[in-house]
Amino acid sequence: MAKIFPSLIAADLMNLRAEIEALNPHCEGYHLDVMDNHFVPNLTWGAQFINAIAKTTSRPALVHLMVDDPTNWIEKFTLPAHSSIEIHVESAGQTRKNLQRIRDLNLSPGIVINPKTEIEVIFPYLDLVDSVLLMSVEPGFSGQAFIPKVIEKIEPLVGYRETKGLKFEIGMDGGIGKENIADLTKRRIDFFGVGSGIFGQPNRVKALKELQQLAITSQ
Ligand code: DX5
Ligand code: ZN
Repeated sequence: MAKIFPSLIAADLMNLRAEIEALNPHCEGYHLDVMDNHFVPNLTWGAQFINAIAKTTSRPALVHLMVDDPTNWIEKFTLPAHSSIEIHVESAGQTRKNLQRIRDLNLSPGIVINPKTEIEVIFPYLDLVDSVLLMSVEPGFSGQAFIPKVIEKIEPLVGYRETKGLKFEIGMDGGIGKENIADLTKRRIDFFGVGSGIFGQPNRVKALKELQQLAITSQ
């Protein structure tokens, strides 16, 4: 089954603990967006807040770093086992070195790519990663519409993975909901970051379960 990671920036932030406790028995982990107001025009959480969130759940965290240069951020996180740190190929810094550093910290390295960046740009990093995250909205905000053109990136990526005998998983982030999750699962997406598709619904657990069901039946 494709895994669904609720993206907590879309949660009721003043009730974050209750939101997490309700979803904990039902999800595989949480998608945590770090934005620095430079790489993207929005500001969210720093490492201290992410670590506090991570402490309230033993579920893995997927930390999505939307920052100018991830180099000095990586060391600052204390995350549960099986967590990952995902860095943008568009960020500054030495990307290979940063991915290796994430691995050395016993976390899963992932590479993220913006909708307008050509898929080939990430190929030189794929030997080092456990996951690729395809952005299906321009990063910065929850609640945006899915960009269908991003679907074109899946086939060449799956092809490259096969040709090179690599094992990374492919995820998608942004604008995911009931309308598109089944189709994307069929197209071999392994995991999703979902914000408003869960937290925009009155019953979060029900919304998550519906998405999980759609992701199972479409396989
Ligand atoms: C966008 C973030 C996404 C976002 C997803 O910059 O990286 O993770 O929170 O939210 P929805 O699912 O509402 O598009
Ligand atoms: Zn994200």
